[in-house]
Amino acid sequence: MQKKHPQAIINEMFDHEAFQQTGYALIELLSKYFATNIEGNRQVILWKDPVDEDLNWQAPLPRSATLNAKNLLLKLGNEILPNTLAIHHPHNIGHQVATPLPIAALCDLVASLTNQAMTIYEAGPSATMLERQVIRWLCDLINPNNKKAGGILTSGGALANLTALLAARQVASVKFSKPWNAWKTGLNNNPLLCILASEHAHYSISRAAGIMGLGSDAVIKIKADSNGRMCIESLKQAHENCKEQNLTVIAVVANAGCTATGSIDPLEDVGEYCQSHDLWFHVDGAHGASALLSDQHAPKLAGIHLADSVIWDGHKLLYMPATMSAVLFKNAHHADAAFSQEASYLFQEEDSDDITLEIRPETFNISYRTLECTKRMMGLKLWTAFSLYGTDGLGTLVDEAFSKAQLLATKIKQFPNIELLMEPETNIVCFRYKSDELNTAEMNLKQTTIRKQLLKSGDFYLTQVELHGKVWLRTTLMNPFTTPEDLNALLIAITES
Ligand SMILES: Cc1ncc(COP(=O)(O)O)c(C=O)c1O
Repeated sequence: MQKKHPQAIINEMFDHEAFQQTGYALIELLSKYFATNIEGNRQVILWKDPVDEDLNWQAPLPRSATLNAKNLLLKLGNEILPNTLAIHHPHNIGHQVATPLPIAALCDLVASLTNQAMTIYEAGPSATMLERQVIRWLCDLINPNNKKAGGILTSGGALANLTALLAARQVASVKFSKPWNAWKTGLNNNPLLCILASEHAHYSISRAAGIMGLGSDAVIKIKADSNGRMCIESLKQAHENCKEQNLTVIAVVANAGCTATGSIDPLEDVGEYCQSHDLWFHVDGAHGASALLSDQHAPKLAGIHLADSVIWDGHKLLYMPATMSAVLFKNAHHADAAFSQEASYLFQEEDSDDITLEIRPETFNISYRTLECTKRMMGLKLWTAFSLYGTDGLGTLVDEAFSKAQLLATKIKQFPNIELLMEPETNIVCFRYKSDELNTAEMNLKQTTIRKQLLKSGDFYLTQVELHGKVWLRTTLMNPFTTPEDLNALLIAITES
C-alpha cells in the first residue's frame, strides 16, 4: 500500500468534520447504551475471568492503523461497552460511584477537547474561574458566613485527603514551640507526629501518612460505637496518650460518611474538642458531604463548619463522572500550606486576618495549591449541574438515595434469614444472610459465595465489607433507577441462594 504523506496523516487526525460526524455517531451509540442500562435490558456485569479476558488483549503494537472510525464504533458497541459495569443499571448498587449526570459527561468532553492545563491562570482562564466559582459554592454550603474559606479541585478523594493532611502537617510544624518548615526540611530531628482517625477512616488516610514520611503506623485509630461513629471518649483518651508519649497530633480525622457503613462521626463534638485543644480538624466528607444539599439530611453534618479542612467527592453523591473532588479549607490561606514550595505561607500564616489572599496574583495559578501540575477542567461539570438543576435539584438525588437505603433496611427486617448491620445513616446498607446452623467462618464464606454468585450471574452488583471479623454484604443506594421491586428481587435472590 502506498504510504500516506505526513501532512495527509495529520490532516486526517485533526479533521473537524470527521470529529463532528464521529461525534454524532458516538452520541447515538452512547444514548442507546445509556437507555439499555437504565431499562435494565442487559446483565449489570458480563462476568469474565480477568485471566481469560486478558488473552483477548494481546494484539501486537499497531505500527499503522488497524481500525477506521466506523470500525472503532463497532468495536466500542460490540466489545467495549457491553463489557462495562453498567453503572446506570437498576441492579448496580455496589460502590459509591455516581450514576453520572449525562450533561456532566458532555462537559467532560468539553474538558477533553479544550484541554486546559490549568497550571497557571493563562493556561486555562475560564477553567480557573469555573473552579474558583464552584469552590466558593461548596464552601458556602459548609458555612455561608465564612468568607475566608477556599480550596481547590483535585483528581479524587485520596489525593484530596493527602492535600489536606499535608496542609495540617505544615501548619503544625509552623505552630510548634520550636517552629520548623516540614515542607522544606522534612521530618529530620523533629518530634514524632501522628494523626488521630476513626477506626473506619478510608485507607487513603494511612496511605497519606505513609507518603508524608510519617509511616502508616502514625495513624492512631479511634474506636467507633456499634453504629460506626467515632467515640468521643476514645478520642480524648488517645489524645491524652499522645501527650504522655510526646507525640504531636497534626490532625484529627472524622468521617462524614465512612466507606464501610456510611456512618457520620459526631462532627460537632469532635470539632469542639479540636477547637478547644488547638488541633487541626479534618472531615473526610468524600461520600457524605453532599448531605449538605438536602434540607432533610444536612443536620446530620452539624459541626462540619468547625473543620479546618473538608474533602468532598463530586463523583460520589454529587453525581459527577470521575474524577472530581474538592479540598476545602476554613481559611483559604491554608490551601497554600499543603505545597509550601514558595514558603510564602510560612511567613503569612500568623497574621492571615490582615491578608486578602483572594487578590494575590499567584492565587489564580492553581498549581501552587495542588500536587497536580497539569489537571483537567473539573469545575465545568459541577458548575453546569449547579446552574441547570440548582442545589435543590441535586439535593433531590441525595434525598432519593437516602430514602431508598431506609427502604431497603425496612425490607430487610421483614426477612428472618437476613440480618441488618445497623440503621443506615446515609445511603449505605450492610446486611448478611443468617443461619443458626453456620459458625462464624462458614457464615463469612456464605456471604462471599452469595456475592460471587450474584456477580457471576450478572444479576446484581454489590460489594462486601469485613467488620470486626464478620463479612457483610454491602450496598450503596445511589442509583435513581433502582426501584423497590429491584430491592425485593435482591433480597429474594439472597434468601434463595
Ligand atoms: C470516605 C472516603 N474517603 C476517601 C475516599 C477516596 O476517594 P477517591 O476514590 O475519590 O480517591 C473514599 C473512596 O471511596 C471514601 O469512601
